[in-house]
Amino acid sequence: MKNFLSIEDVTDLKGLVNEALAFKHAPFSQPDLGNNKTLGLIFMNPSLRTRLSTQQAAYQLGMQVIVMNMNQDSWQLEFQDGTVMDGGTAEHVKEAAAVISQYCDVIGIRTFAGLQDVTADYQETVLNKFVAHAQVPVISLESATLHPLQSLADMVTIQEHQKSHKPKVVLTWAPHPRALPQAVANSFLQWAKQWDCELVLTHPPGYELAPEFTNGVEVIHQQDLALQDADFVYTKNWSSYQSYGQVLTKDPSWMITSEKMSLTNQGKFMHCLPLRRNVVASDEVVDQSLVVKQAHNRLFAAQAVLAQILNNE
Ligand code: CP
Repeated sequence: MKNFLSIEDVTDLKGLVNEALAFKHAPFSQPDLGNNKTLGLIFMNPSLRTRLSTQQAAYQLGMQVIVMNMNQDSWQLEFQDGTVMDGGTAEHVKEAAAVISQYCDVIGIRTFAGLQDVTADYQETVLNKFVAHAQVPVISLESATLHPLQSLADMVTIQEHQKSHKPKVVLTWAPHPRALPQAVANSFLQWAKQWDCELVLTHPPGYELAPEFTNGVEVIHQQDLALQDADFVYTKNWSSYQSYGQVLTKDPSWMITSEKMSLTNQGKFMHCLPLRRNVVASDEVVDQSLVVKQAHNRLFAAQAVLAQILNNE
């Protein structure tokens, strides 16, 4: 694996999931793989799970880790070519990515959608510029449109908890007070489409995701109907793609409750976290959910990806 930016960088999904599970059973099985190698983690946005799990994953492989909060601790970056940089930006990504590559053997970068310019976000302008000018492998720690480390951890969690060969997996929109990116939902669809499952998507009108992610996915607009007999209820808010970045509704009837979970096949509630309790899902649902197990699996997902990059498999 050269970079890890999306599922397209994965040649064997089941193999990668099994590698993550192998690290879960033996976290220190390859303690020297990353000896004398440094992972640089660049955060342009906040994080709890990604920051801590990826650092710990690197330590378990013997790597050193450098973390930088780019927007707070560094110079403001310019991403456009040919710009007269006489405004707020002080350093061009051309130099920044190249310089970070002098100190690090692998770079992870988190860069959320701005939710202002759909073209810039969906072309992954920031991530792609960074990759273009980096001289070492790059791992997405969540980009404008995708969150592949989360999706890998989600597939690991489904693998561990599925009771049949072809579980029913429902991705449902849920309300949220703020406009959030579509990255987790897009990415989950990409990965779940390659998993052997019955995949159903449900959301209110106006929350359709980009067709490149929903092509071939069954969409049911009545949430109660979609949840029938579900084995997994993956819940996430996202802002509108068509009315880009807008919050069209905060309809509380889309919150996941125990009553809704009772429609499922004793289904498991999943969410990437952070989660606003009693807005996205009720306390009872969250307390009986897989959310902490998913977060735990972030560690082994990151470890498997780092191992493949270090081995350049
Ligand atoms: N799920 C996830 O990526 O969590 P953080 O934003 O806290 O890293």
